[in-house]
Amino acid sequence: MTIQENISLKAYNTFGIDVKARRFVSITSFYELQQLLKIEKDFFLISGGSNMLLTKDIDRLVVHIDIKGTSIDREEEYAVYITVNAGENWHEFVLWCIAENYGGLENLSLIPGNVGTCPIQNIGAYGVEVKDTITKVEALEIETNKLVSFSNEACNFGYRNSIFKNEVKGKYILTSVSFKLTTKKHQLTTSYGAIENELALHKIKTPTLKNISDAVISIRKSKLPDPKEIGNSGSFFKNPVISKMQFLRLQKENPTIPNYPVSETEIKVPAGWLVEQSGFKGKRYGDAGVHEKQALVLVNYGKATGNEVFQLAEKIQKTVLEKFRIPLEIEVNVIA
Ligand code: EPU
Repeated sequence: MTIQENISLKAYNTFGIDVKARRFVSITSFYELQQLLKIEKDFFLISGGSNMLLTKDIDRLVVHIDIKGTSIDREEEYAVYITVNAGENWHEFVLWCIAENYGGLENLSLIPGNVGTCPIQNIGAYGVEVKDTITKVEALEIETNKLVSFSNEACNFGYRNSIFKNEVKGKYILTSVSFKLTTKKHQLTTSYGAIENELALHKIKTPTLKNISDAVISIRKSKLPDPKEIGNSGSFFKNPVISKMQFLRLQKENPTIPNYPVSETEIKVPAGWLVEQSGFKGKRYGDAGVHEKQALVLVNYGKATGNEVFQLAEKIQKTVLEKFRIPLEIEVNVIA
């Protein structure tokens, strides 16, 4: 465990924001993490850096969680139980599952970030949320340096939400995530329109896990910018949920508004649509911008500062509020 000084965090966040860590340490084992907690409790955690917007240099010790390792805990007739350490790359893990014929995560292909952070915002895409396969999350309690286990229920998962964003925020370091995946009779989720179209395009009638993963990869590549080429954090805003009454009023003025009923009285509307209708899609202000193919994604074309991206987000929020009377909630973690 070596503490380095004045390290640029550009390579550690997918937005590619160039701020500095005054002190920086990479942690590669559970033992190292426990040792560190004995001497330091006030630090800033960074893992895959795929859901954060850094707006200034970090004075606290930056701890990069890089604990690797995957183990198969046990197998049943139709299921396998796997535990994955926090520092494993999410997409590599998904690809490994597909190669091993383990089902459940194929719709979540190509999501940036590491396994250790997937429960925090309950990553989800194309009709699947990671909460559907998580059995357990293990975490070190910062205060006591003890390992604590959270069952799926204890994680309190919701849409882009969990206990780790709320009640216990900042209290734990997630060290591993356990999954239950299928080995036979996979339950495929292909109902999401874009997946059906992609499978039909390739004339696939009985898709395999790999077919679905390939379809998702192709859809994502066609819509979402690759963080290795253009800095971004995926969806910048959450899709807002509004009352049915407000929705019906909006629909009168905007008959084409896409919508997903959440309950009898609530409707989810896509933030990407609201941002596009507000005129921001493809707009660029210096090196900060709104992606040209998906208005939900804010991008850094190279040298944008975190504040420039944040100011753009505020401008979008203000315009959407004025135009549609809908407050947009930021989904990424803004570090100010
Ligand atoms: N839309 C527009 N303009 C845009 C973007 C979208 O009009 O610029 C419309 C689309 O036409 C469509 C609707 O909005 O009718 C929904 O768009 P899309 O299917 O692209 O999905 P989304 O709601 O924008 C959500 C997740 C994504 C996830 C996709 C697929 C959120 C905040 N985002 O996006 O998650 O990949 O569904 O399931 O829930 C992420 O969290 O980083 C992420 C990429």
